Amino acid sequence: MEVVIVPDAEAGGELIAEAMAQLLGRRPDALLGVATGSTPLPVYQALAARVRSGAVDTSRARIAQLDEYVGLPAEHPESYRSVLRREVLEPLGVPMAAFMGPDGTAEDIPGACEAYDRALAEAGGVDLQLLGIGTDGHIGFNEPCSSLASRTRIKTLTEQTRIDNARFFDGDIDQVPQHVITQGIGTILEARHLVLLATGEGKAEAVAATVEGPIAAVCPASALQLHPHATVVVDEAAASELK
Ligand code: F6R
Repeated sequence: MEVVIVPDAEAGGELIAEAMAQLLGRRPDALLGVATGSTPLPVYQALAARVRSGAVDTSRARIAQLDEYVGLPAEHPESYRSVLRREVLEPLGVPMAAFMGPDGTAEDIPGACEAYDRALAEAGGVDLQLLGIGTDGHIGFNEPCSSLASRTRIKTLTEQTRIDNARFFDGDIDQVPQHVITQGIGTILEARHLVLLATGEGKAEAVAATVEGPIAAVCPASALQLHPHATVVVDEAAASELK
């Protein structure tokens, strides 16, 4: 595992956007796995700036979703499909036809989860998966004690994660769905390159457990230690608990 300490979130965004730009230069139809949340926004902004300046061609790029709420209609402004359309696809000029994600409104949710794992494999696998991390070490919505071998599946959100996400639902926890579909840790580990970005002091303990702790289900992100090509990009605040 490679750990890169950058001065701030903006520098982290630039670094990862450059890695994505170089990947797209080598492989124009690369499948980029993207996360939602606040942390990756500087990456998407830095990559969009490269698209606008003509430095990156995204005309053949493909985008894959990491997780999705169960039961929110796709057109709901807070479904992750909508969020990614606004924050990633539109700024990068990638059409929805090049986007893949699990169907959180399917009647058969387990079937939709299996179908998504199959679709990712049939698409050739994710080339670069961008991850954020929860303060409890979660990646995607694999909360602590998720199996490190898990596949895409339905999960119940913890109370804490629903409280954290209420900010996107007018501060009302009752509007936050109870369930999500998330790529499993085993699914995430199949991406060819994992890039985890963590910024801010609130992530420092989780980063230390990820990088220096044992590989353990209590810290799902510690599974990155098993991956042959994992890069952890942290700002100085998020690095503050590293030895
Ligand atoms: C969401 C996701 C989550 C977030 C994590 C951190 O798609 O994958 O694991 O990355 O909850 O969220 P932020 O970046 O908002 O602190």
